[in-house]
Amino acid sequence: MPARLILETPRLILREMNPDDFAALCAMLRDPEVMYAYAHAFSEDEVRQWLDRQLQRYRQDGFGLWAVTLKTEDGPPGAMIGQCGLTRQECPPVSPGRVPEVGYLFRKSRWHQGYATEAARACRDYAFTTLGAGEVFSIIRANNAPSLAVARRNGMAVRAAFSKHYYGQDMPHLVFSITRSQWRQEQETA
Ligand SMILES: CC(C)(COP(=O)(O)OP(=O)(O)OC[C@H]1O[C@@H](n2cnc3c(N)ncnc32)[C@H](O)[C@@H]1OP(=O)(O)O)[C@@H](O)C(=O)NCCC(=O)NCCS
Repeated sequence: MPARLILETPRLILREMNPDDFAALCAMLRDPEVMYAYAHAFSEDEVRQWLDRQLQRYRQDGFGLWAVTLKTEDGPPGAMIGQCGLTRQECPPVSPGRVPEVGYLFRKSRWHQGYATEAARACRDYAFTTLGAGEVFSIIRANNAPSLAVARRNGMAVRAAFSKHYYGQDMPHLVFSITRSQWRQEQETA
């Protein structure tokens, strides 16, 4: 299925997901190690709902979590190694409305190669340049060290903390953010 391309980085292409991505999504969302922060691996039905939610976000918001693919890939062209993108999230400690969030989740075999950080930085830049955001967030479970590290490498710092009730558990979360002026400063000194 032809996919709408969103972003390109030195090593990656981010494109909209489509129904053909179901198997690749299962490889991530049904892996208990990848789903550590979500406290359970998804069922096939939950993966289908996740995919439908992204397609709905593209239609309603014009953005969502996107498929991350490698520019040079041995497998079929465009196969998904991860997902990264922008969603509108509730964040009670900083806003009564929803805030733009950079989210990321990668196949385990693709961890530790810098791909999540490369994709997250491109999404953050997209939020400022294309969406005109004033501040961009990542809301992360407090004990998810690799994800916290990606947020820091994305130029973000802790802005607030709160607890989310999910899957029958109270889960402490940290709110990371970078403001437009901090982002501009980073661009100028890069
Ligand atoms: C969050 C997640 C995407 C982070 O993955 P990650 O591999 O730690 O992060 P990156 O892809 O940015 O890779 C960074 C690592 O690659 C290394 N690296 C290797 N080559 C690199 C390169 N060319 N450029 C940059 N870094 C490189 C870095 O040194 C760093 O090493 P480390 O893991 O030993 O610290 C991954 O842990 C994940 O999918 N977790 C499950 C889903 C999840 O919890 N998502 C967050 C929900 S809030």
